[in-house]
Amino acid sequence: MTKPALNPINLGEQSPQLVVGRGNPNARLMLIGEAPGAEEDARGVPFVGRSGQLLSELMVEAGLDEQNEVYICNVIKCRPPNNRKPTAKEIDISRPWLRQQIDLIDPTLVLLSGATALQALLGVRSGISKMRGQWQSHDGRDFMPVFHPSYLLRFRSREAGTPQDLTLQDLREAKRRLQLLELN
Ligand code: URA
Repeated sequence: MTKPALNPINLGEQSPQLVVGRGNPNARLMLIGEAPGAEEDARGVPFVGRSGQLLSELMVEAGLDEQNEVYICNVIKCRPPNNRKPTAKEIDISRPWLRQQIDLIDPTLVLLSGATALQALLGVRSGISKMRGQWQSHDGRDFMPVFHPSYLLRFRSREAGTPQDLTLQDLREAKRRLQLLELN
């Protein structure tokens, strides 16, 4: 049996950059995004470009300690050409690796940041606006869809009801659940 390709996108190229994860591998909270962008590809670390900076800001504001309380990764481990959206086939090829990564980190809570993560893990192709902020239990873990930070970059305002405000509320809810876990 052939092994699934960890890197479906750059397969065959000379030196594909794998961007695996960052944060605490023992964290009880995991955040999964889509795929590395240019900055992430250059540094080999997920969410370190503009959207990652916004994500970090929101986490700080929500009281989450990114280094110690969260493990951050992507569905796809290599940068898609021109930052295009990963194809359904690429998501399928990446899923077994992502599942292994989830099993290894073994988080109780998982934030699915954006449509690709939602599709890859819950099989839902649309509807992040309706599903965001709600926990869904699967295989002993609780998953919450949240907006992707690159979508949030399109809106500057953090007034009540804006995508950034809603994401802040979702991250605060994740922090609240983490604190409950610590009490038990
Ligand atoms: N967008 C993602 O989904 N992941 C990254 O690592 C960077 C941008």
